[in-house]
Order: sequence, then structure tokens, then C-alpha cells
Amino acid sequence: MTELIYMTDSYKQELMARVVSCVQKGNWWEIVLDKTIFYPQGGGQPSDKGTIKGKHGTATVKHVRMQDDEVVHECSIEGTIEIGKFVECTIDWNTRYQNMRVHSAGHVVHEAVRLVAPYLDPIKGEHGKTAYIQYQGSLPIDKKTRIEQQANDLINQNLHLKTEFVTLDELKARASYIPEHLPKHKPLRILSIGEYPPIPDGGTQVKTTNEIGEITIPSIDNTVDQVRVYYTVASETENKDATADQSIAAPQFIGLLLDAEREAKELVAESDKSAEELRIMLLGPKSELGRLTKQIRQVPAADRANVGVVVNQVKQSIEQAICNNPFTHSPIHPSSDSWIDVTLPGNRPPEGHLHIVSQAIMEITRIFERIGFTRVRHPEVDWDWYAFESLNMPPESPARDEWETFFIQYPGKPKERHSGGRRPIESRGDPIAPPNAGLQDDRKTGQMVLTPHTSNGQVREMEKGKLPIRMINIAKCYRRQSDVSHVPMLHQFEGLYIDKNVSIGDLKGVIDYFFKQYYGPERKSRLRPFHFQFTEPSFEVDINCGVCLGRGCKFCKEGWVELAGAGMVHPTVIKNGGLDPQVYNGFAFGWGIERVAMMKSGTQLDDIRLLYSNDVRFLEQF
Ligand code: PHE
Repeated sequence: MTELIYMTDSYKQELMARVVSCVQKGNWWEIVLDKTIFYPQGGGQPSDKGTIKGKHGTATVKHVRMQDDEVVHECSIEGTIEIGKFVECTIDWNTRYQNMRVHSAGHVVHEAVRLVAPYLDPIKGEHGKTAYIQYQGSLPIDKKTRIEQQANDLINQNLHLKTEFVTLDELKARASYIPEHLPKHKPLRILSIGEYPPIPDGGTQVKTTNEIGEITIPSIDNTVDQVRVYYTVASETENKDATADQSIAAPQFIGLLLDAEREAKELVAESDKSAEELRIMLLGPKSELGRLTKQIRQVPAADRANVGVVVNQVKQSIEQAICNNPFTHSPIHPSSDSWIDVTLPGNRPPEGHLHIVSQAIMEITRIFERIGFTRVRHPEVDWDWYAFESLNMPPESPARDEWETFFIQYPGKPKERHSGGRRPIESRGDPIAPPNAGLQDDRKTGQMVLTPHTSNGQVREMEKGKLPIRMINIAKCYRRQSDVSHVPMLHQFEGLYIDKNVSIGDLKGVIDYFFKQYYGPERKSRLRPFHFQFTEPSFEVDINCGVCLGRGCKFCKEGWVELAGAGMVHPTVIKNGGLDPQVYNGFAFGWGIERVAMMKSGTQLDDIRLLYSNDVRFLEQF
């Protein structure tokens, strides 16, 4: 039984522990210690990452799980980790602290929901990259603002989060909610926020609510009889920056203005207040728009005029919404004695242009064409085999967790699929299997995915049987994530070069060539050793941040932004593509188009989601 140190001290970042067992499983290792500070995935909180260092080796902990009453650390190991010896454990504190803040925020949101809708019964919570609390029952979506306000009220009261261990009877007597399956072997722990009734909890928690910072409720999602209240917290740096007097980039400021406009219009539509009251509330100095107007000084001087135009447009559009609302009786009516000046020049119809992502796709395609890479297309809905298994990630591989994948259960086996009748909807995006990938092949049946990366094109391209391969596969990818630097639908471009005697030097050469062509000679890049199942060795490619030019801002990590991965194609993958790894080798890289485009200097965008907000006033700038 592992002693769970994180239960009593969630701020402990380092620990000496003794190795109880260390077993190889496939191509990773599983370590059990006598005690641990690593949080195993559970209760909606993602697991910790970090390192376990012994005298003769270091284990990199990638995932941690609870198995019976033991904490199993899933790792890769350099050197050896000896059983019975002491090791030094260190957790990746940034990840843990963010997880803790998100988890604690979940409890605050739950208290806020209980204040607004005490009739809802909690079912579960998810406190990872996507965070929500799920309840039995339903909740009108217009409660969103109330819940957000209540949650931030609790945050601003700077309440203490206290954990204590209790007996089952005590827990039943005190807790506001008793989950159905209480863990049998774990100590029963309860968490209370300020004076609110305690809740059973096994996660790691911050000490005071001000460590969480502002909470946002982006949506409330009702299904038949359940409802999810989604929430987000600012990243820790954003939280710290919130009070600092910072400069704001124009696109970000415009994004805030558009948010204010949308919220104001929603309020007008739901409100039965008079026009005058609405005007004070939504356009007055204390309104969100009023507050933003004051902050316009923080926008770089060169952009202020443009931003000013948007401020006026937003004001007019809110004013219009107030006038048009049938419930508000506006004293303002267009004057009836208006006249038309027929000598005025006409209005030019607006001209459109390609979306920034389409522009980037064209430019990237052209850059690679010049060194002999051809753009190809591969399915965006594909078999698990191409997206994972053929890439050295069998179904049980923990490495798959990195790609937050949408799986599709394919109805029926392929043979039945073509036996007449209407084809199921999912099969309309059916990847057309290449000629040599016979549908009888069992590996290409079973689950399908919305491809989470373009690497599914690697084996598919090899199966075409034409060598050497110099492809650039550009496609949409899907992952279950949304925050300042992630969107659920993104674009990637995947380079693959397969020939005889390809070297890492060739890979570095191609990457350098691309950066020079796309960003200009002054931007810096670096290759960081990394791990992917389908490349060996693997790298992550970073570029110095285009928002702060390397100084450090809320978008980047200390001045560097990760553009995704690269490496030498793993022999197993080459074999799965039907080629002989003794004869052929090569490299691959896969990068996100949105990120690559955002990092271009001049594109000072620090929230990737703005790209898909579909507001012309934003898009016109690029
Ligand atoms: N497919 C990887 C990702 O999405 C990137 C990658 C591509 C890494 C090719 C190595 C080689 O993160």
C-alpha cells in the first residue's frame, strides 16, 4: 500500500522514497514506491508528471494511476532504477499547480451552483484541460452569469480550503453530498471551503481561493436529464498579470470588445428593464464597455485609432439592440425630417480575403514545393490503426493520452458495410482504403477516430509504394481541448521524407529552411529532445515567441512556443508501411498551422480561439 503524501501536503514538490517494484511493460516501465507525492489520475484530476531519480538512472514519469491501493508510476527509464533503493521524486510543479487550481475552482463552482440551483444533484466533475461539473437535472443557460458572479464572489472573499480525515459516519453526518462508491481502502477525506458544508474529496487543493483567480463559466450544456456546467480558470501567469498594468495587443483588445458586445446583447434580449436603465448598465462608465474604453490607453499608440473605430461600432450596435428590443421603450427615434444628399459618393462594397489559416496553408505548401515536397491529402476520419496502432501505439499504450481523441464507434464490420442498404452517416467520410490495404484486413476495422494528428498519413503514404517519399500532408485535426492556445478543430501539416540513408542533419536542414523561408532569418528555433512512440530519436521544435519576442508573456513558456514534434521515423512504422526498415529510413514532422501562423511576427494574437470567432472586424486585420 503506497502512502499518499499528496493527500496531506499538496504543496510538496520533492520527496525521498523507496522503490517497492519496477517492472517493464512493453516499452514503458511501472514503478511502485513506498510513498509518493505523484497524484494518480482520478476524481476528474489528471495525473502528475515528473521524475524519479536513483543512483544509476532516471525515470521520467508520464502518467500515474491507482491500482488497488498502490500508486503505479508509468515511466520511461534512462539507466536503471533499483528495487529497495532510495530515489528522489520531483513533480512537474507547473502542471500540478495548474491542476490543483482547476480542481479547487471546481469546488468553488459547485458551491456557486448550489447557491443558484440547490435542487441539482452532483454526479461527477472533470478538472483537466476541459473542466466541468455534471449534475442530474437541468439548468436554464441564462443562469451562467449568476453562477459566474457567485463563483467570483467566493474567490474574492479569499476563503480557506481545509481538508481533514474523518470516519465514514462522520462523513455522512457532515458532508453535503455522499458519492455512491466511496473508495474502500483510501482514508476518507473531506474538503470545506470557508464555512460551507464539506464535500468528500481525494484531490490536491490550493490553500486559499485567491490562488485560483478569476473563474469563467463559458457554457452550460443540458442533455436529456443531466447538465454540465463548464468552467475555466486563467493560467497562473494570467492570474498574476491580472493586476499588473500591462499593455494589451490590439487583436486581444478587439476580442474583449466583441465579448462585451455579445454579452450586452444577450442581456438586452433577456431583460425587461427600460431603455434608459439598460443604457446606464451597458454603456455607462461602470459598464464593461466603459471599463474597456478607459483601458484603450494600454493599446499600442499605432493601433489606437483602429481600436477606437471598433469601440464606436460596438457602442452603436448595443444602442441599436436597446432600441430594437420590444420591451424597452426608447425615447430615441430616427428623426423623420432626415434628408438624402444625392451628391455624396456611393459606398464601396466590402472586399473579402482569404482566412489567415488558408493563407498560411498556401504559403507553407509553396515553401515545401520548392524543395520537392508534394502536398497530399489523407483522410480526416480514419481507422484507429492509421492514427495510433500503426504508429507504435497499441490500444493500451498510455502515450495515446496525449492526443485527446474523439473516437467513433463504427457500426458493423466492413464486410457488412457494403452489403447493400443505406450507408451509415459516419461512413460518408469513410477513408477510401488504398488498394493494398484490403478491407478484409482486421487491423483496419473496429474503431475510427476524428484524426487527432496528421501522422495517420505516414503509413498511408508508404502504402502507396512510391519511393522516395517527400510528402506534405495538410489536414484538419480534432482534439477535445479549448483554451488560449488550443482549439478543438485545428490544422496540421505533416512532412514525411523516406529514402535510403536519411539523417538527422537532413531533418534539421529542412526545419531551418522552413523557418528561414516562413519567418525570415531573424527568428530563432531550437530542437528539444522529446518522446514520440513513432519516431526515434524524437524532438520538439520551439520558436521564440512572436507575441513578446522572447521576453515571456501569457501565451508562451518563458519566451519559447512549442510548435510540435519531429523525429526519425521509427523502424516499426516503416515496417507497418510495408517497407524494409533495413533499407529505408526517414524523418517526419507535424506542426499546427494555427500556431505557426500566429507566431509570424506582426500577428500579435494571444488567444488562438479568436481565429475561429468568425467576426469580420477581427479577420479583416490579416
Ligand atoms: N503527430 C505529432 C503531434 O501531433 C507530431 C509529430 C509528427 C511528431 C511527426 C513526430 C513526427 O504532436
